[in-house]
Amino acid sequence: MTEPSEQLFSTEVQPADAPGALGQAAGLLGQGQLVALPTETVYGLAADARSPGAVARIFEAKGRSAGNPLIVHVDSVEMARGCVAAWPSAAAQLAEAFWPGPLSLVLPKAESIPGIVTAGGDTLAVRCPAHPVMRAVLAKCGFPLAAPSANRSSRVSPTRAEHVVDQLGGRIPLVLDCGACDIGIESTVLDLTGDTPTLLRPGMISLGQLQAVIGPVAVAKPPDGDERLKSPGQLPRHYSPRAKLVVCGDLAAALGQANKATHVIAREPAPANWPSELWHRLPDSASDFARAFYDTLHRCDRLGAETILVQSLPDTDEWVALRDRLNRAAAEA
Ligand code: TXA
Ligand code: MG
Repeated sequence: MTEPSEQLFSTEVQPADAPGALGQAAGLLGQGQLVALPTETVYGLAADARSPGAVARIFEAKGRSAGNPLIVHVDSVEMARGCVAAWPSAAAQLAEAFWPGPLSLVLPKAESIPGIVTAGGDTLAVRCPAHPVMRAVLAKCGFPLAAPSANRSSRVSPTRAEHVVDQLGGRIPLVLDCGACDIGIESTVLDLTGDTPTLLRPGMISLGQLQAVIGPVAVAKPPDGDERLKSPGQLPRHYSPRAKLVVCGDLAAALGQANKATHVIAREPAPANWPSELWHRLPDSASDFARAFYDTLHRCDRLGAETILVQSLPDTDEWVALRDRLNRAAAEA
């Protein structure tokens, strides 16, 4: 059932290159409203990071727990340094190597960022995105933008404007449409506040690439029991489609159980006579697979899939982030 408060807006979708679109987005953000914007990873749901009222709208629109902190997006190292209380040499080296790009750095929070952004914590994730539309809006605003992925909480992140509308239509005034995101999964999140840099969420910037720049990096273990979550993105169930998702080590065997509501995502062609609308073939390279993966999950949901069988992914380093997202999408709760 839809509550009246959920349909506050008739959501406008504007091509990002339409005349005035960037100015309209910056104008709304300046008034404390939300705008969904493309980034190179996934679409983000942006708000003025300096404004507790604007940031509160993000949590409301997503149905996100107040205990899950947001990433703040900046257009320069200078803006990043205005959001954090320390800028260690590891941050400087990583920003030099990977920004603008899909890497979020967790650092001590500056006073200028309200506590609602960091879920009351004293650390802040900052990221300088590479997407020209996000960068143009940041430049017009001149202030940092808090932006989680533009999906309802625990659902699959959007890699196209229509995925945003499916989940947040009626809840936000504007989406800037710039087609499909280039990377297709969320940024690497690295915590620089402890003694050893710690990977909180794998992404397409790999552990090896980080270590090549700053030396040893630890990998956070998923928290167990009552342990306070360092990164709720580490929750077992996350990034999930509506359909039940099953990872199949032996795809051929699993196909025996398939019915008309079973969709298959595989890196190989369908068996002869298999209904082509139920078979989604994805590329063999990890980066091409990442670009298409969430879009395919959204498409399966739209087509009414009850079950999605996904062929298990290669056990090599370049697939680490994708295996992480696939396992979370498949988790039961
Ligand atoms: O690629 C991305 O990172 C996208 C685009 C829009 O930039 N954003 C994104 O945001 O994925 P979100 O909110 O969906 O995921 C942010 C992740 C969550 O797992 C959150 O718990 C973690 O980063 N995080 C944010 N701030 C943190 C902090 N201070 N300490 C630890 N983890 C943090
Ligand atoms: Mg998210």
